[in-house]
This record gives sequence, structure tokens and C-alpha cells, in this order.
Amino acid sequence: MVMGSMHTGLEDRFYNYGKLAAYFAERAKGGVAMMITGGISPNREGWLLPAGGTMNTKADVINHQRVTRAVHKHDSKIIMQILHSGRYGYHPFAVSSSPIKSPISPFKPRKMSIKNIEQTVKDYARSAKLAKQAGYDGVEIMGSEGYLLNQFLSSHVNKRKDIYGGDIHGRMKFVVDVVKAVREATGEDFIILFRLSVIDLVKDGNVMDEVITVAKALEEAGVTIMNTGIGWHEARVPTIVTSVPRAAFVDFTAEIKKHISIPMMAANRINMPETAEEIVATGQADMIQMARPFLADAHWVNKAKNGQTDRINTCIACNQACLDHTFENKRSTCLVNPQACYETELVYKKTKKPKKSRRHRWRCCWYVSRSCGSLTWS
Ligand SMILES: Cc1cc2nc3c(=O)[nH]c(=O)nc-3n(C[C@H](O)[C@H](O)[C@H](O)COP(=O)(O)O)c2cc1C
Ligand code: SF4
Repeated sequence: MVMGSMHTGLEDRFYNYGKLAAYFAERAKGGVAMMITGGISPNREGWLLPAGGTMNTKADVINHQRVTRAVHKHDSKIIMQILHSGRYGYHPFAVSSSPIKSPISPFKPRKMSIKNIEQTVKDYARSAKLAKQAGYDGVEIMGSEGYLLNQFLSSHVNKRKDIYGGDIHGRMKFVVDVVKAVREATGEDFIILFRLSVIDLVKDGNVMDEVITVAKALEEAGVTIMNTGIGWHEARVPTIVTSVPRAAFVDFTAEIKKHISIPMMAANRINMPETAEEIVATGQADMIQMARPFLADAHWVNKAKNGQTDRINTCIACNQACLDHTFENKRSTCLVNPQACYETELVYKKTKKPKKSRRHRWRCCWYVSRSCGSLTWS
């Protein structure tokens, strides 16, 4: 069981890393085998929002060490997601494969030059190396949901005519270069996950043959585990709300799995143990990632393991306190578990039952005797 990446808002300010550490530690205690942090950018251009969470200096390493230490105390693994927002960045430094504004950000991105692309590859590698120094067990390279790498992979945005555009081999060059550079910088003993967009759900999105070509190239470039991403943020097709049936997109994961030999992870709208079990048992995926269900219940895994499925606080896929908060630049939490991301602030304490005083007991006896007396008298 893997906890999927969720940018909670705590990543963006250094003074919140203690809270972030407590949030992950609670889920590690709850039995999750491996957790993926919310998206952390490799440079300024990749910020999600102004001065968003990055991993590119020694000071960042010190902040992130608080998180990795807290998780490792509970024998769980933690992966840092490297996310470059591209044209989804909510700031004036946004860049992309082509200068096409996204419908979800007011800022028109600048087209990346070849020099800029080569520098960004180096930024990814440096970020991964620093993540390793901070104690992370690996990194996840975010290549889906319409962020920068997805903006290169798909001709929905990539209209380039140079070596980074054209057919799928040109469009995937930047992405493959990033994975190769990250592997080279971090060595063999380091997990590299790649979140692959198995279906883009936008006009001119990649077809299945193209996605398979990318998956094979990424495996060869050094990816350890392939993760599933579904649809761009600007897609008009619902991908995670309550109306989407459980495990609705798992067939796409299963199709990719047939063509690669590294483990393949299923994601999106898997929230109960029976669904997860069926996917693995039928061989559609090797691993399960769940994101929001771990906001709703930090102890999901232990409850499932102990046959207490009925005690799981189920995520109802409403998005009201998690994703809606993210898009309003507020800290995420959960409608059915307000303690999520507030572990150090909303602390439930067991209160002792107050002892009854002697006077209280005498008073009770007096009332009883009086009412009994009045009953007898009447
Ligand atoms: C608050 C929130 C923030 C998210 N941030 C990220 C992110 O930074 N990177 C990422 O790859 N996915 C992110 N996601 C998407 C989740 O990883 C996941 O794909 C999505 O929630 C659907 O899976 P689920 O039904 O298991 O929650 C986020 C989701 C939520 C709810
Ligand atoms: S706010 Fe709603 S969708 Fe988000 S984790 Fe909680 S129950 Fe799930």
C-alpha cells in the first residue's frame, strides 16, 4: 500500500515542516508501506505558486530531513515527488514546451529554449541528489496531470519543431533525459517512480501506442516503479469525484503493465480494501496507490490488516476540504477527518471520568428518599 502524492500546502513554508512531519508520521504509524510527498519543484520556474516548496538548496535539505526522520522512526519509506508545474504555475516565471496559456492559470508561459531545457534536466538531477541527502528513499518524477513533462509528451501543448517536438520520440526526449540524469545523479540504490499519464483526456492527447512507447523508454532509462496518472487538470472528464466508479481507470494501468517488466501501480478512486485486493489478485497492477483515503483515515492499513474494514473512515471523494483547498491556496484537510494536516494542533485528549464527590452522593440519596417518601405519602 502506497500513499499517493498530495500537495497539502504545508510544503510551501519552511515553518510548516514540523506539521508536515507529524502528518506523515501519523500515516507511517498507521501502517502505510511507502508515502509520496506532495509536488516539490526543482527550480523557481517550476513553482506551483509564488515561493512554493522547492528542493534546490542546503536549507531545503534541512527542512526535509525533519520529514524523513519522522517517517523512518516508524519503519516506513518516503519518496519525494519532483513536480515542475510548467504552464500550470500560478506565477509570472511559468514556462512550457510552447507558449500556450492554460485555462487554469492567468499567466501565459514562456517557451523553453534548448539551453533552458538542458538546464532544467540538470535541476531535476540536482533536486533528486539533494532529496537523497535529505534521507528520502527515492523520488517520484511527476509526468502526468498536465504538468511540465506531460506538456512536452503530448501534442495538446507541444507544438515544437525542434528535437524536443514532432512525433512521440521527439516529444519524449526531454522526459527520458530527465530520468537518465536523475538515475545518474542518485546511483542504483535509489527508488525512481515515474507518474505516467496513461490517458490524457484532452484534445490531441497521446494514444495508447504512444503511452506504451514512453513507458518502455522510461523503463530503459532507469525507472524502478511506474505509477498511474489520469487526465490533465484541465480535462472536462471527471476523474476523481464521487460520481466516478471505484477503480474506474484500472484497465489503462493493466494495459501498460503488459508491456513493461517493472512493477506497475494503480491509482485513483480506490478507497476500500476489497477493491485494492481485487486489482492485485487479478493481476491488473502490482501495487496500489491511494491518496485521499489516507487523509480520511491515517490508520487505514492497520484496520484493513486486522479485519476491521467496517471501522475505516471512508473517503467520500467530495474534494471539499482537500483539493478545493489546494486550488484556493489553503491548507488541505478532510471533511470527514478534520485532524488531517492539523495533527499537532487538533489534539484529541482522553479525559478521565470525574469522580463523584461524597457530597454529591449524599445529595442523590436525599433526592431519592424525598421522592420515595412523597410517593409513599401520596
Ligand atoms: C489535496 C490534493 C493534492 C494533490 N496533489 C498532488 C500532487 O502534488 N502530485 C500528484 O501527483 N498528485 C496530486 N494529487 C492527486 C492524487 O495523487 C491522486 O491522484 C488523486 O487524489 C486521486 O486518487 P485518490 O482517489 O486515491 O485520492 C493531489 C490530490 C489531492 C486530493
Ligand atoms: S475532503 Fe472529501 S474527498 Fe477529500 S479526503 Fe476528505 S472525504 Fe475524501
